[in-house]
Amino acid sequence: MAAIENIMTRTSIRQYKDQPVEQEKIDIMLKAAMAAPTAVNLQPWHFIVIDDKNTIALLSGRQPTNAPLLIAICGDTDKTTMPDGKGKLPEFWVQDVSAATENLLLAAHALGLGAVWTGVYPMMERVSEVANVLNCPQNIVPLAVVRIGYPDESPEPKNKFKEENISYNKFGAKK
Ligand SMILES: Cc1cc2nc3c(=O)[nH]c(=O)nc-3n(C[C@H](O)[C@H](O)[C@H](O)COP(=O)(O)O)c2cc1C
Repeated sequence: MAAIENIMTRTSIRQYKDQPVEQEKIDIMLKAAMAAPTAVNLQPWHFIVIDDKNTIALLSGRQPTNAPLLIAICGDTDKTTMPDGKGKLPEFWVQDVSAATENLLLAAHALGLGAVWTGVYPMMERVSEVANVLNCPQNIVPLAVVRIGYPDESPEPKNKFKEENISYNKFGAKK
C-alpha cells in the first residue's frame, strides 16, 4: 500500500525552501526514472541535472522559480532504432520519457521532496529554447523540465477520480 499512498498523495509543488537537494536523493530519483517501462527496452532517454542558478534562471524565464534543482528529461532519438536494425520505432520515445518523468516525480515525493513537471515537448519553440540553453545535440530532445526542492507549501492533492472517465467493455457502457 505504500506505493499507492505515494501515488495518491503526490501533488505538484511550486514553492521550495532555500535548501539544496542531496546527491543521494538525486541518484535515487534518476534510478527510479530509468526503471520506467520502455518500448523494446530501448531506453531512449537522457537526464540533465541542473543546479547552476544562472542556468535555472535561463530555463525558467516565463515561469520564474525558486527551485534549487531542475532535471531536464530528454528523448534520445539516436536510441530509437529497432534491435534487429530494421528501421526506427515510431515516436514511442515520447511515452517512454513521459513514464520516466512520472517515476521521477513519484520518487521525489517519496523522498520528502516537492516537484512539478513543466512541459517542453511538443512545443517546438520551447524545445529549441531549452535545447539551446543546455547545449543539446540534435538527437537530444527535451520533453520536460522537472523542478525539484524541499517543499515550502503544502497544497492538498487534487481528487481527480471521475466515474465518467471509465467505461466497461465498450466505450460509454457502465458496469
Ligand atoms: C505535460 C505536462 C506539462 C505541465 N506543464 C506545467 C507547467 O509548464 N507549469 C506548471 O506549473 N505546471 C505544469 N504541469 C503540472 C500540472 O499543472 C499539474 O500536474 C496539474 O495541474 C495537476 O495537478 P497535480 O500535479 O497537483 O495533481 C504540467 C503537467 C504535465 C503533465
